[in-house]
Amino acid sequence: MLAIIGGSRLAQLPILQITHRQVVRTPFGDPSCALTFGHIGGHNVVFMARHGYGNSIAPHEVNYRANIWALHSVGVKQVLAIGSVGGIRPDMAPGMLVMPDNIIDYTWGRKHTFYEGPDRPLVRVDFTHPYDPAMRQQVLAAVGRSAVPCIDGGVYAVTQGPRLETAAEILRLQRDGADMVGMTGMPEAALAREMGLQYLHVCHIANWAAGKGSSHERIHFADDALADGMAKVQALLAALCAQES
Ligand code: HPA
Repeated sequence: MLAIIGGSRLAQLPILQITHRQVVRTPFGDPSCALTFGHIGGHNVVFMARHGYGNSIAPHEVNYRANIWALHSVGVKQVLAIGSVGGIRPDMAPGMLVMPDNIIDYTWGRKHTFYEGPDRPLVRVDFTHPYDPAMRQQVLAAVGRSAVPCIDGGVYAVTQGPRLETAAEILRLQRDGADMVGMTGMPEAALAREMGLQYLHVCHIANWAAGKGSSHERIHFADDALADGMAKVQALLAALCAQES
């Protein structure tokens, strides 16, 4: 089954025909919300709002372990994560969608592994390529069918938040090789890998990163680009589920 994790701009998924909700408890505490089960175009999907349905859980307070555990426990095999990012690379303009192909993790203090504690084995999962290549091909096919533009590839810098970055921090991320910046890509992707789930991120560019473009003086979130981005995400999900069913 496919899971969709919605970001702060996608706490509800209007195209989902809901069948039921399920509260899941995990050894790592409570997930962000009850899981919402339903169909998109006849395809079974489970939806989770990363920041809770009330959008009240900050990026550094999300219980990523409980979320991934909960999805795995109900039979999820694939996770399509949606998240907002700031654009750093010149073609990563607000309103665009992008599927990153790598990650630099700047977060700290988050519970980032299932493999800790006295009775757990020492396991080092391979994370050379953090996103699943087969899922990427599926989503690229949906991109082609839906005609929703989506940039394929780019490095996602994950910052701790919840504050936004300084202009100097963005320049440093750029020197490191980052193309976009967000706060929720990790440890979610690594935990999904530890759990053996296929995982892919589709990022919606909500703003130019600090110091770039229209965010030269302060971060500027363009409301029309936000609405446009969410419409594109839903069109892409509809095309993906149509091809999967
Ligand atoms: N920085 C970090 N996270 C973000 C941004 C940003 O500019 N935009 C959306 N999420």
